[in-house]
Amino acid sequence: MQVAIGGKSIDILYDEQRIAARITQLAYQISGWHAERAHPAAPDPDHHLLVIPLLRGSFVFAADLLREMSRLGVHPHIDFMTLSSYDSNTESSGEVVLQRDIREVVKARDILLVDDILDSGRTLHFARSLMVERGARQVKTAVLLEKPGKAVVDIRADYIGFSVPDQFVVGYGLDYAHQYRELPFIGVMAENTE
Ligand code: IMP
Ligand code: MG
Repeated sequence: MQVAIGGKSIDILYDEQRIAARITQLAYQISGWHAERAHPAAPDPDHHLLVIPLLRGSFVFAADLLREMSRLGVHPHIDFMTLSSYDSNTESSGEVVLQRDIREVVKARDILLVDDILDSGRTLHFARSLMVERGARQVKTAVLLEKPGKAVVDIRADYIGFSVPDQFVVGYGLDYAHQYRELPFIGVMAENTE
């Protein structure tokens, strides 16, 4: 289905229902990992799972994923990191810049990094390496989307919502020149409006 927004046509790839169903599955997988890793005898706050959504693109996915995880009994600490690797167009600058760091301590913690999409992989690789450097106990990664075969660095996400074709996708947190993040679906900019 195609919708017109702001003078551009967007083809819907995944609608709200499909996204919600997939997020429930991911939350189950993550809660299984968490159950294995939890320290029931040591409710030390330093051992709480720490979920780090990478801003800005992951905010919608993270909000839905975290609420599903909560329903499954996973109650993590949450902190945010802002990374940027894209200019205001669709081309990656290739360099990842840490614009806002987390405040939580990472050492000896289980960390779940959450991002919107794994494209070149540089963003997730950067964040993952930082967590390892800071002494994380284990680092897992969850992405809503991945573009298979595009990674230029050695990284694979542990939890992946959907694989998408190598086209520019928007909505559900993902933007095109700061637009379309608020859309409740994942879509692709239609060819005829590029
Ligand atoms: P990577 O570092 O190349 O993996 O890219 C990660 C970031 O690039 C994502 O968090 C997005 O913000 C952005 N990005 C990559 N592909 C797309 C896309 O198709 N649509 C919107 N943003 C994208
Ligand atoms: Mg992003």
